[in-house]
Amino acid sequence: MSGIDDRKPWRQEKIYEFCGYTLKISMFKNSFLGVSAYVWEPGIELCQHFQNMEMNFVGKKILELGSGTGIVGILAVLLGGDVTLTDRPDVLKQIKHNVSANVPSHSRHRANIGTLVWGSDHDNYPSDFDIILGSDIVYSPTQFPNLIKTLQHFCNENTIIYLSSNLKLRVGAVHFHEDILPKKFNSEIICSNNGNCIYKVTKKLPIDAN
Ligand SMILES: C[S@@+](CC[C@H](N)C(=O)[O-])C[C@H]1O[C@@H](n2cnc3c(N)ncnc32)[C@H](O)[C@@H]1O
Repeated sequence: MSGIDDRKPWRQEKIYEFCGYTLKISMFKNSFLGVSAYVWEPGIELCQHFQNMEMNFVGKKILELGSGTGIVGILAVLLGGDVTLTDRPDVLKQIKHNVSANVPSHSRHRANIGTLVWGSDHDNYPSDFDIILGSDIVYSPTQFPNLIKTLQHFCNENTIIYLSSNLKLRVGAVHFHEDILPKKFNSEIICSNNGNCIYKVTKKLPIDAN
């Protein structure tokens, strides 16, 4: 992170450097977006993980849930992925702004943006994504059943889900990751830093249950 641009009162812009890209991320502070108008630590951790692992998403079809500012999905586009960034309808304007500001026009066709409210909208999307991304989306226990439903909808034998969560600050995150998620999926921590954990989650096949 290298700076904050406060010149426009309606938004705050922060600059991040990952994987050789400079990301200018705007947060629409006057749009009543609540938690969506921040870049959260688990998102930063996931971007850092992509950098550490020298991730290359060329040829991968990726879905991001709860994109917020879009920082993670945008980096995935820059790393070659065909990415669908999703969130609640009122957040899409912020995501569109950040995609336009960071994804060069020749790659823009690989950045799709759409409404996806967990538990209700997933049928509007195909279920053949290779990778599902979710950073700091585990924080509201009332939404856990909907989130699980949506993850189940999108997870097939070949799908890899990366969930990056803050276990220290987020209510119910430990319960979600240690009790709820493992009942339905295989889940392992692949990275842990100061309370932020990245989980690699895959479909539980019948043989795994034995
Ligand atoms: C804490 S923010 C994280 C944003 C971003 N992923 C990051 O790491 O900075 C959580 C995001 O999940 C979205 N979200 C929460 N509940 C949702 C639901 N039921 N359906 C769709 N999106 C939801 C919020 O709108 C918000 O943008």
